[in-house]
Amino acid sequence: MDQAENLRNIIKKQNQKDLSNARVIAVTSGKGGVGKSSVSINLAVQFTQMGKKVIILDADFGLANIEVMFGVIPKYNLSDLMVSGREISEIITEGPEGIKFISGGSGIAKLVNPDKEQVKRLVNKMSELENMADVIIIDTGAGISSTVMEFLVASPETIIVTTPEPTSITDSYALLKALSMNDNFRREDVSIKMIANRVSTESEGRNLYEKLNMVVSKFLDIDMTYLGIIPMDNNIVKAVMKQKPVSIIYPASASSKHFEEIAEKIMNEGTDIPPQKRGIRGYLKSVFAKNL
Ligand SMILES: Nc1ncnc2c1ncn2[C@@H]1O[C@H](COP(=O)(O)OP(=O)(O)OP(=O)(O)O)[C@@H](O)[C@H]1O
Ligand SMILES: [Mg+2]
Repeated sequence: MDQAENLRNIIKKQNQKDLSNARVIAVTSGKGGVGKSSVSINLAVQFTQMGKKVIILDADFGLANIEVMFGVIPKYNLSDLMVSGREISEIITEGPEGIKFISGGSGIAKLVNPDKEQVKRLVNKMSELENMADVIIIDTGAGISSTVMEFLVASPETIIVTTPEPTSITDSYALLKALSMNDNFRREDVSIKMIANRVSTESEGRNLYEKLNMVVSKFLDIDMTYLGIIPMDNNIVKAVMKQKPVSIIYPASASSKHFEEIAEKIMNEGTDIPPQKRGIRGYLKSVFAKNL
């Protein structure tokens, strides 16, 4: 093999590596209780049904949302990887339909202030996720806490869930404002998308988007993409009570149909995120940049 061929192979491998990088999508909101975890688990179901491999990272530390909504009790969580030396394969729990998730557990203290060695371990271990998933969904906590900000600044794609309640709209704006003022935020490298949840009609959702996008683009120079609505649907409440995603137990419900539409939109629109920001490795490296 001559040197040029060698080089070509290296470049080819590098390109393949970029292509295999999983999409990392953070799901967030300004106000709590507006539907982040519902959106995370139901998009996970829809992506899975489209043939994608999905892993959810429950980053709403201490609240254990995903495991409760899946009705599955994880044996280990993220803190077992960081503190007790567990392997990534051990801390992944299997939910319905082969969807995998990592419970945040109550490892928050360690995640907010990890030491260098822990961060390196986390980044290296988590990069193994890349080969296991096409999509990694991160369910963040609500609001402007510094942990949420770190996760969002690093995320190439962010879905902000907003409802028509006035406090949800103002809190969404406050969250995006805090994000835009963060030193590490690079508008050109990220894609912010909005879902209007708990609305009655398509036009109510569209109005909500236009209202928020107008102020966000004018004052924060952020251009949000609109993903669509999830209607107010009592089947979601029933599904939460039964600890199963609505998309699995009520696939014909209005909300399930909209989750399907939104999942297709996300996949069809693809992503043009720069390679260095793609994948979980790039993601975590930027989350913990100052500790590396
Ligand atoms: N479209 C909807 N129609 C009806 N009820 C909904 C809808 N979306 C969410 N809910 C209800 O709102 C509750 C809160 O939703 P969810 O737990 O997904 O919000 P969250 O943003 O993850 O909350 P938290 O901030 O506490 O993590 C759910 O238990 C569900 O009953
Ligand atoms: Mg939640």
